[in-house]
Amino acid sequence: MEEIEEKEREEQELRLKANMDKVRYKIIVLSGKGGVGKTTVAVNLAYALSQSSAKVGIIDTDIHGPNIAKMLGIERASITGTDLGRLKPVEVRPNLKAVSMALLGFDADRPIIWRGPLKAGVIKQFLSDVEWGELDYLIIDSPPGTGDEPLSVCQFINKITGSIIVTTPQDVATLDSRKAVLFSHQLNIPVIGIIENMSGLICPHCGKEIDIFKKDGGLKASKELKVPFLGSVPFDPEFVEAGDNGTPFVAFDNPSRSSQAFVQIVKRIEEFVNKPKYKDWSE
Ligand SMILES: Nc1ncnc2c1ncn2[C@@H]1O[C@H](COP(=O)(O)OP(=O)(O)OP(=O)(O)O)[C@@H](O)[C@H]1O
Ligand SMILES: [Mg+2]
Repeated sequence: MEEIEEKEREEQELRLKANMDKVRYKIIVLSGKGGVGKTTVAVNLAYALSQSSAKVGIIDTDIHGPNIAKMLGIERASITGTDLGRLKPVEVRPNLKAVSMALLGFDADRPIIWRGPLKAGVIKQFLSDVEWGELDYLIIDSPPGTGDEPLSVCQFINKITGSIIVTTPQDVATLDSRKAVLFSHQLNIPVIGIIENMSGLICPHCGKEIDIFKKDGGLKASKELKVPFLGSVPFDPEFVEAGDNGTPFVAFDNPSRSSQAFVQIVKRIEEFVNKPKYKDWSE
């Protein structure tokens, strides 16, 4: 019995390696705190990259509160099996594939009560047994904090290209974002940069900016921690609307400051992966 389990483990390791070898850049989205906009960033980033004709996959490793399917408008779809016992991701649009717990057919209203090893098992399957094919980017969305799920991802993927840390501007959030930076350092993951989300609200009536959560905490944290700053995304009610309606904000050709912020962030990420040091990271 043990021998069979050991053999299965070894085979899965081989499948994992073969799968991940076909993905050029693996980017994990982290935060120290909950609700700061990781999933919003992950979904919009994946969508924007796929629009620029990169082949993109997105993995939702939030087992207890999976939101990617809802934000991508695919919550009625499900992951299917192939004849060879592999899993087919859901095709969101040309060049964009997704997997999430929410796509495995569990009752969305019931909490999933799983301990660490079981969660690690499903994350490993998402990486090793899903037919991702050749990808330019695999974007990994995490639950808040630096717990089991991001740790599992970082242990399973041999070389993560980098982490993106999302924070809101107030001190408590940026303090927590330090943990995500240190987590990346400890696991030898390059920090692509910090994004300050919900950074000021443009008043829809007078057009003036209101700093609900203060300002520049993310920028300050990035200077102190000596990691790049990728940009600030304003608080924009259209993100909520877009997320709830299942079409990512960046899908709309919108000249707003939020849209421009995203264009800038995507550019910085492309610059990061195109540095000679990371260009052939997977090889
Ligand atoms: N820039 C923004 N402007 C307005 N609303 C936003 C913005 N970013 C995120 N939101 C909204 O805030 C809520 C939380 O965002 P999101 O789910 O992306 O956070 P999260 O960090 O992934 O949360 P969790 O820690 O629970 O996984 C969502 O309703 C989302 O639409
Ligand atoms: Mg989330």
